Amino acid sequence: MRFVDLNTQYERLRGAINKRVQAVLDHGQYILGPEVTELESALAEYVGANHCVALSSGTDALLITLMALGVEPGDEVITTPFTFFATGEIIALLKARPVFVDIDRRTYNIDSSQLESAITLRTKAILPVSLYGQCADYDAINAIAAAHGIPVIEDGAQSFGATYKGQRSCGLTDIAATSFFPSKPLGCYGDGGALFTNDYILDECFRELRVHGQADRNHHPRIGINGRMDSLQAAILLAKLEIFNAEVVARGRLGARYSQLIEDAFSDVSMPTPVTTPYVEAHNTSVYAQYTVEVPSRDAVQATMSECNIPTAVHYPRPIHLQPAFASLGQEPGSFPAAEKAAERVISLPMHPYLTDEQQITVIQALKDSVLEFL
Ligand SMILES: Cc1ncc(COP(=O)(O)O)c(C=O)c1O
Repeated sequence: MRFVDLNTQYERLRGAINKRVQAVLDHGQYILGPEVTELESALAEYVGANHCVALSSGTDALLITLMALGVEPGDEVITTPFTFFATGEIIALLKARPVFVDIDRRTYNIDSSQLESAITLRTKAILPVSLYGQCADYDAINAIAAAHGIPVIEDGAQSFGATYKGQRSCGLTDIAATSFFPSKPLGCYGDGGALFTNDYILDECFRELRVHGQADRNHHPRIGINGRMDSLQAAILLAKLEIFNAEVVARGRLGARYSQLIEDAFSDVSMPTPVTTPYVEAHNTSVYAQYTVEVPSRDAVQATMSECNIPTAVHYPRPIHLQPAFASLGQEPGSFPAAEKAAERVISLPMHPYLTDEQQITVIQALKDSVLEFL
């Protein structure tokens, strides 16, 4: 069993992907070729944003955003401590200061009720993450940000395809970034990412920043990076986009089925269920980039499941405020108790649109056996 099964997806799309790739090999415009432009239009339409800029990775998308907003040394950017390292890393890379706000214990997303008190005169942006495939509470976040005139950037690396109150992730905030890392809900065959905005000035700025700050050939009004998407990745994404809606539906069904199987599996155990299943807000749909549960004795449970050949992963065992690279921030254990508690207990189960019913049953049986062994 695979944690994410990209091979089965490729078998389904072999003809379409090969055809798209062959077209790139035939025209030979390998960087920012016609597929990139086509992809940008398709993705902008998909999320309901005016502009999409395709980029070399999700990390570069976040970096380019902060560069476009003019984030400078000493500025502050508010984010969550419970995320992939890149979210905090790009803030520090610009020598700005990540200001962490703890998470909601149920959704794992930034707790909007704690947001306002983190805002200072140096706050340049608010960067919530839509973790595990479910959007953060953007109505509340956008309202607080608007009252202070601060832009909101959605880190939608894990939520592409999810909806919040009927609107798609990456179309909910001033700016949104996503990742097309192969295992993401929409993934390419290498690194890739994108930015979304309705603001045409920001769009232009993102386009310059992805080509070394170049406005016209050999004219560089600003310092940028090499953040371009290559045409082969865009070609692959265009082929995958054709079936993405069906995959999103499958992810939703499989996530709900996992939760039901867990409830059933533990119903004969005379105690409250020791496994916490994902909580999805009624106004949200999740794409389950990760199907993540909480268990006691997580490391032991993971080791036992591995012995049963069930691949699992931990997203994330250490919140980023406790990473050695952020030691200079001086955050002690206990600073963000909700994030720290989650980090101790979470475990992600195999998740992809091609998971079979039998595989899900096998995973949940192994989960049950492992959890009961350590209770
Ligand atoms: C929440 C989050 N932010 C940012 C990133 C960075 O994206 P990439 O790997 O495409 O650079 C990821 C990807 O793993 C992510 O999960």
